[in-house]
Amino acid sequence: MGKFQLSHRVVLAPLGRLRSFKNVPQPHAVLYYSQRASDGGLLIAEATGVSDSAQGYPNTPGIWTEEQVQAWRPIVDVVHQKGGILICQIVHVGRVSNYGFQPRGQAPISSTDKLLVPQVGSNGIDVADFSPPRRLTTEEIPMMLMISELLQGMQLKLALTELRSTEPMDT
Ligand SMILES: Cc1cc2nc3c(=O)[nH]c(=O)nc-3n(C[C@H](O)[C@H](O)[C@H](O)COP(=O)(O)O)c2cc1C
Repeated sequence: MGKFQLSHRVVLAPLGRLRSFKNVPQPHAVLYYSQRASDGGLLIAEATGVSDSAQGYPNTPGIWTEEQVQAWRPIVDVVHQKGGILICQIVHVGRVSNYGFQPRGQAPISSTDKLLVPQVGSNGIDVADFSPPRRLTTEEIPMMLMISELLQGMQLKLALTELRSTEPMDT
């Protein structure tokens, strides 16, 4: 698959675990990903936020701070030690969020200001409430914090990958 040599087709789908307290991957994730790693096997990590405005679910991991990057290292290491491949699924939830998840209680940022209707969770009990999002203007987009945060997150991810990869990145 591209630059990666897979030895089989059993792939771990991204599965949000909601156990990365304060958005920092925890030591128990080392065991979790280690148990699912195999030689030449592909793992896609749980959705990982690219900025503090990217959050919409509790305790999801991030990759926009140095602390988070360092917390990912032992996870990446253990997967590599087993010969596995770990892809970070980066995410920004946009308007699938509410004031409680946002820095300084600000409005979630999105491509639209249309409010999402509340959604019943997969357990059929919990209801997710969303806050009115703030639509980015066209003029705002190039210099928007979200974009710079996204790029920052990407750079951290790339830096992490480069550090751990034996081959240079294609892009
Ligand atoms: C608890 C749970 C967490 C999930 N978290 C993510 C996630 O973080 N990112 C993602 O892209 N998909 C996520 N999914 C979707 C799974 O990856 C998806 O269910 C899996 O690929 C199997 O596909 P299917 O449900 O269409 O059969 C999640 C699914 C479940 C049940």
